[in-house]
Amino acid sequence: MMAEMRVLLEHIDCPKQCQLSVYEKNGGYQTLKQVIPAMEPAAIVECVKQSGLRGRGGAGFLTGQKWSFLPPNRTITYLVCNSDESEPGSFKDRLIIERDPHQLIEGIIIASYAILAEHAFIYCRGEFFEGIAKLRQAIKEVKERGYLGKNIFGTNYNLEIIVHTGAGSYMAGEETAQLNSIEGFRATPRLRPPFPAVAGLYGSPTIVNNVETLCNVVHIVKHGATWYQGIGTVHNRGTKIFQVSGQVQAPGCYEFPMGISLRSVLEHAGGMFPNRTFKACYPGGSSCALLTRHDLDICMDFDTLTARKSALGTASIIVFDDSTDMVKVAERLMEFYQDESCGKCTPCREGTRWTLQMLQRICAGGGTWNDLTVIDQICHHMAATSFCAFAAGAAPPIISAIAEFKDEFISYIKRNPAAGELPPMSVAYPYKKSLNVI
Ligand SMILES: Cc1cc2nc3c(=O)[nH]c(=O)nc-3n(C[C@H](O)[C@H](O)[C@H](O)COP(=O)(O)O)c2cc1C
Ligand code: SF4
Repeated sequence: MMAEMRVLLEHIDCPKQCQLSVYEKNGGYQTLKQVIPAMEPAAIVECVKQSGLRGRGGAGFLTGQKWSFLPPNRTITYLVCNSDESEPGSFKDRLIIERDPHQLIEGIIIASYAILAEHAFIYCRGEFFEGIAKLRQAIKEVKERGYLGKNIFGTNYNLEIIVHTGAGSYMAGEETAQLNSIEGFRATPRLRPPFPAVAGLYGSPTIVNNVETLCNVVHIVKHGATWYQGIGTVHNRGTKIFQVSGQVQAPGCYEFPMGISLRSVLEHAGGMFPNRTFKACYPGGSSCALLTRHDLDICMDFDTLTARKSALGTASIIVFDDSTDMVKVAERLMEFYQDESCGKCTPCREGTRWTLQMLQRICAGGGTWNDLTVIDQICHHMAATSFCAFAAGAAPPIISAIAEFKDEFISYIKRNPAAGELPPMSVAYPYKKSLNVI
């Protein structure tokens, strides 16, 4: 079994790692001290670019490239650390914030210095009560030590970090909705372009990065881009924190080089319960297509999972064994998406509601054959025509559940005496073909 490679999680089990003295005893803030003032901000951006780091918030966008989109002659720059973490199955950012908050703060200070930001926001999921308290305490400690605030290490560089708490919205994790939320508006997304790097928070250039992304920056700057390039697969560099939940014996966070097989991650998570077999999983949080037992040896990186028409997303693996009712899974997930849809655009607002109503009808034994066709059409339609990426994430979990486990949907519909005979497959199941458009 491939061993874990703990870089970000190296000190996660260390008691009192939250305290500044313990973090420093374990080597913390050494990188920051090497960077300010010795390193030019542009050199840090170049180092992150060379490393090939891709954002860990879900989309896998190249971090150095994103930073390079900032206009050269800007006066104000903001950094926003996205720790809304409301994707079902995701719990890595919370672990870092609660157990090793200084690692994140060190990453934020280095990244802010690199992009010349003097104000950084941590947008923290409001339910992370413990994490929010720990972050605020950690910020207070480093401020007193002079690592934050005015004239850091005697330079003319100033930085304030503000912890902004969310109020229970999954959509507030979408970067432009998050900027609206920080500004005091509802968390609905903005039209792009302009992208935040050009016009973001309060109309100024803003970089939004995930917690895990910013923690990676510390280690890249510490060990160098070449070291980082040596971990993972081509175009998918570094380690990744995999979060395994659901029907495994040892759910939790595990850190491996990118590209480890799904099978190995599941083995580390204790495997299946006795007398149970693996049935399926969502590999990247709930907003992606299901993998099945045929995919157990798949390489867990951004490009391989995209080629498989699924996604690495946040690498949050939600596991189902053979006891799981996949129709109920689809219904429960659509209940979540319908509830979280911000309502700004019609295809998503109505599409999630209609799809949920049909799935509920199927579960209650009143489904018709036509429901399957209509669910497929609505899901494709909302994925293709909605305003933001939310709907493109709400569709694949449902479409793939029907495509991969159609027999379970068929047996539910057969419970409805009014549904009649199963129609020819070509009429009832166009989705297998159309799945490819997502
Ligand atoms: C509905 C929705 C929810 C999201 N939630 C999060 C989140 O909780 N945390 C996060 O980092 N990114 C989230 N994202 C992705 C962000 O929009 C953005 O891509 C990310 O924060 C960029 O950081 P990165 O480049 O470091 O990955 C979400 C996107 C969508 C569409
Ligand atoms: S796709 Fe959904 S979440 Fe996004 S803007 Fe439209 S209604 Fe809101």
